[in-house]
Amino acid sequence: MPLITDEEMNNVSTNAAPDERVLENELRPRSLGDFIGQEHLKDSLGVFLQAAQQRAEPLDHVLLYGNPGLGKTTLANIIASEMGRNCKVTSGPTLEKVGDLAAILTALEPGDVLFIDEIHRLNRSIEEVLYPAMEDFAIDLLIGKGPGARTLRMQINKFTLIGATTRPSLISSPLRDRFGATFHLDFYTEEDMRAIIARSAEIIGVAIDDAAVARLAAATRRTPRVANRLLRRVRDVVQVENKPIADETLIKKTLDMLRVDHLGLDHGDRKILNTIIETFRGGPVGLSTLAAAVAEEMETLETVNEPYLLQIGFLERTPKGRCVTARALEHLGLPVAPLDTTR
Ligand SMILES: Nc1ncnc2c1ncn2[C@@H]1O[C@H](COP(=O)(O)OP(=O)(O)O)[C@@H](O)[C@H]1O
Ligand SMILES: [Mg+2]
Repeated sequence: MPLITDEEMNNVSTNAAPDERVLENELRPRSLGDFIGQEHLKDSLGVFLQAAQQRAEPLDHVLLYGNPGLGKTTLANIIASEMGRNCKVTSGPTLEKVGDLAAILTALEPGDVLFIDEIHRLNRSIEEVLYPAMEDFAIDLLIGKGPGARTLRMQINKFTLIGATTRPSLISSPLRDRFGATFHLDFYTEEDMRAIIARSAEIIGVAIDDAAVARLAAATRRTPRVANRLLRRVRDVVQVENKPIADETLIKKTLDMLRVDHLGLDHGDRKILNTIIETFRGGPVGLSTLAAAVAEEMETLETVNEPYLLQIGFLERTPKGRCVTARALEHLGLPVAPLDTTR
């Protein structure tokens, strides 16, 4: 079945662990007002939503891009609910045949939202079905075979396509051009992360003091999914240690147990930095070479580790490849000078 539930989708398309899915849905903001941060995006989206509602028309197609766990799926659901419509969910890799997508498109009710996660992974023939659907709300069916074959155009209900991707550069330009608006989800500010933690803590019933919220926020990689994941472990420790409230000491203990440092770097990040330092003399090293050296998928490196390491200034992207910065060396407790002379 190409149409998949939100739960299944998380399994194939994001970095949410299976046991995380139920909680993830529970913690999802339901309205734009509940959605913390990304102010610029919310302002623009709010205007487009209002305009579409006033015209009693579906919202124009929207492309959302940003690293995993920043809120793309959440926003797609919010858009549908703000429009008062259903959100049908599928994803690039689950759509295998042209017929899969045609079946979904013809079943859409007027104004429905169709969310295609990982839209950069659609194969070309399926993508071509989307073009007339997006532009003219029609699909072209091929009738017959050989010289007598002809196409029959079939109208479908007007709908809003929301595409999500972690890798916008892999989306073909004809597809990209058919979206009426493109929104980029950025890393959250630390202030936003504190608000997100406080909100989630209340929902899952963990008492946590302000200093603990701040300490946890610093280790979230500015990513709500990571915040929620860490918070769940905090809840475990609070429970097992029978504490009335999570304080800073408890946060530190939880992070230590997870081998996550105060900046949110985990074992994988340290391995990447150490490999660049030890094997490649601090860089530059190409991403694919690095991925092979640390035995990690290039996509994970590119969408999970690297963006955050760049963000905090631990990695530098140069034309020749990635380099570790002095700041990273300091953080790892390594001498700063010798590496620079070996470049
Ligand atoms: N702006 C936000 N405010 C509060 N929680 C958020 C926000 N964005 C994301 N989340 C939480 O983070 C989790 C991951 O978000 P999701 O939309 O699944 O990310 P993505 O689809 O971009 O990988 C969800 O459980 C959601 O509760
Ligand atoms: Mg998602």
